[in-house]
Amino acid sequence: YVIGVDLGTSAVKILLVNQKGEVCKEVSKSYPLIIEKSGYSEQNPEEWVEKTTAGLKELIQQFDGDVIDIEGISFSGQMHGLVLLDENNQVLRNAILWNDTRTTKQCQEIYDVVGRKRLLEVTKNPALEGFTLPKILWVKENEPEIFQQAKRFVLPKDYLRYRLTGNIHMEYSDAAGTLLLNVAEREWSGEVLDAFGLSADLCPALVESHAFVGTITAEIAQATGLSEAVKVFAGGADNACGAIGSGILSEGKTLASIGTSGVVLSYEERNDLDFEGKVHYFNHGEENTYYTMGVTLAAGYSLSWFKETFAKEENFDKFLAGVDEVPVGSNGLLFTPYIVGERTPHADSNIRGSFIGIDAAHERKHFARAVLEGITFSLNESIEIFRSSGKTIGSIVSIGGGAKNDTWLQMQADIFNAKIEKLTSEQGPGMGAAMLAAYGCSWYPSLKECAEVFIQTAKTYYPIPENVEAYQKLFTIYKKVYSQTKELNE
Ligand code: XUL
Repeated sequence: YVIGVDLGTSAVKILLVNQKGEVCKEVSKSYPLIIEKSGYSEQNPEEWVEKTTAGLKELIQQFDGDVIDIEGISFSGQMHGLVLLDENNQVLRNAILWNDTRTTKQCQEIYDVVGRKRLLEVTKNPALEGFTLPKILWVKENEPEIFQQAKRFVLPKDYLRYRLTGNIHMEYSDAAGTLLLNVAEREWSGEVLDAFGLSADLCPALVESHAFVGTITAEIAQATGLSEAVKVFAGGADNACGAIGSGILSEGKTLASIGTSGVVLSYEERNDLDFEGKVHYFNHGEENTYYTMGVTLAAGYSLSWFKETFAKEENFDKFLAGVDEVPVGSNGLLFTPYIVGERTPHADSNIRGSFIGIDAAHERKHFARAVLEGITFSLNESIEIFRSSGKTIGSIVSIGGGAKNDTWLQMQADIFNAKIEKLTSEQGPGMGAAMLAAYGCSWYPSLKECAEVFIQTAKTYYPIPENVEAYQKLFTIYKKVYSQTKELNE
């Protein structure tokens, strides 16, 4: 067996996976967000360690004392969160998480000091509040007494792995989200560190995602029942692991994952494309490869907002059944899902959503279909950016809420103008972490070969030409709504 640990924002999910890629046991333990002020989002790293240790113990206990051969363990983690350590590797303050937005001023400073163009050349990404460097600068400016004691920073799953092994590392896929990595050269950027007077010693040694980084400490073995011989592999960022766990491991392979937010992610062999910072461009969890990623802030969230507000009593299946009765294009009703702002391609936290074209003949089901179409149009903006680099996107793996409904899957095929693949079993980032452990243990010669065994398509949805044509016209109108409503929201 191998274990994949997904250290998420609300819970840690632990999967025990066998050599066929089947999930044999699963344990999940949740922990809270600490929200001290509006815009703040923190967690206590000790909580990650406690909940993971308890989860591993629970998993082992399910075998009632039988000997189980667990060969390796690896990790997926929420990205960007800042964990600051002192000279004894003690945590100096709560972790500041990816969804904390206190750093708008620091993002501006990064542009002022490095320049947007140069930042994009080196780090491939714009300065966003969620990323790690702005958080480091925030602590430096606002908590100088803490910053003075900081000897090193790590990301959430790196801290967890340190506590399980006693060794500190960072791997490329998560380091890519710090704004301190030269993404193409795969080394810490001396230029960016120097620009802010940061010591290179702050940055841990970099390794590959499948790199062996140690074994379980005696203390953790005692607490969990795991053997001290279990090999630990570095792991990856949750988006990279989600991609690995969905088989996004060759050129053209693309993922549409619709949760609260929606992510569209595409495999990239090259590291020299220029997307002008419109999409994220990160190192993959596979050696020497990359992925680009666009985010719709309110994807599933737009749908749950609509249902909660206008159809609270109805169950979800009945609510969505009405959508089938409405034709493509919702009889002229158009929705933009900007209910909490938008990330890709606008990076605009002030924009708000709209329904356009309301007609006296529209019923609630037209609104519901328009919401699904609007979410999918927003994701299609990211796909359009990937295609603008010359990439052919012929098929897309759909996971999450968007893969639970036939009508929505067909809609994705028609709006994305690509085949949509639904998987037989979806385990998300935890499966990607398990695959990194399987690859690290040399069960397979590559992640691609591991994916061939671990991941299967259950059903394929093909684009219907007349729907594609109708949606292409509507998408042109959809794209105009942003600029036409921007001023109204300022
Ligand atoms: C990616 C991002 C989120 C977190 C969630 O840039 O901020 O997807 O990784 O854990």
